[in-house]
Amino acid sequence: MERTLAISIPENDKYYDIYINNESVESLYKELLVRTKNRRRVIVFSEKVYKLYSKNLPFPKNEIFILKDGEEQKNLKNYIRLIEKLIHNRMTRKDVLIAIGGGVVGDLSGYAAATYMRGINFIQVPTTLLSMVDSSVGGKTAIDMPSAKNILGSFYQPECVYINLNFLKTLCERQYMSGIGEVLKYAFIEGNCCNNEPKSLFEFLSINSSRILSRDLYFLEKLVTICLLYKINVVRADEKEAGLRKVLNLGHTLGHALETLTKYKKYTHGEAVIWGLTLIFNWALKNCYIDTVYYKAAMDLISLYGFKNIREKIKTDKLIELMLLDKKADSGVIKLIIPNGARVVTEKELKNVYEFKAWLSDQIG
Ligand code: GLY
Repeated sequence: MERTLAISIPENDKYYDIYINNESVESLYKELLVRTKNRRRVIVFSEKVYKLYSKNLPFPKNEIFILKDGEEQKNLKNYIRLIEKLIHNRMTRKDVLIAIGGGVVGDLSGYAAATYMRGINFIQVPTTLLSMVDSSVGGKTAIDMPSAKNILGSFYQPECVYINLNFLKTLCERQYMSGIGEVLKYAFIEGNCCNNEPKSLFEFLSINSSRILSRDLYFLEKLVTICLLYKINVVRADEKEAGLRKVLNLGHTLGHALETLTKYKKYTHGEAVIWGLTLIFNWALKNCYIDTVYYKAAMDLISLYGFKNIREKIKTDKLIELMLLDKKADSGVIKLIIPNGARVVTEKELKNVYEFKAWLSDQIG
């Protein structure tokens, strides 16, 4: 099983390949050595991935930087530590930073690559489902501050992306399901992501849930490919999130706020996104943006994958404050990505924040 997807971004004349396969991790190592021959390397590893795969990926010790796992590690302190490592290893613009891990490793390494010497080469090797289907592709890089998620960042595309599906076999269940959360999001925005391909993710997920939940690699290859084809279409049209790319944030404005308010520790990104998404679906139903048939189909898909309702007592004032800091917000106006029945989502200004706040307190209270 081997596939190469190409992403081209006309806006900045950028082109790169995404290699998807389930060959051995040793062959990935060889491929990385060939690709980076005659360049200096720093490899940022997720701690868990390093423990499991350091024998299969035996890079010299002085090239390795290990990042502990967890969203709370995507912070300024670790960013500075990594920059110091790049300086210590005398990395120059022609050299290459490789990120091997999930979204935290990819986002933080990407931000370091984007800012060190105003930009050095960067390769993404995503090892979680979430980073394979979403964060490793499209060039979003960022770190969090205690008061806001992804608030320091840039758009910086990698040189290429290597997706080895074998990493999914050892991914813990909670992180796997976090990736499924992001996959479900794609099912609700697919009307916006297709060029000519038939819209099929919703159906694919409905029919094949047991194969996907049991991590059958044949189905996972198809799943990752569909999600990435959607993402490629969106990023190609709008790299800098001026319009269309905002649809990829369905459920994220609320989800990010939940992650921030619970100090990036209590919920995975996917859990927070499903929470945000469900609230948005409830809001969309209440405002007649969707009908009950579509609402029920969406909620059934979410429960088919075993997501339970999160009951978290959080102050709606705080949530609203964070929603105003969201990158889609616009000088004090909250903008929400809203699904509609035709499976095409739209961006709507939240005209009456007071009404939304009262409704939200009712929902989460
Ligand atoms: N993860 C959302 C995006 O790449 O735009």
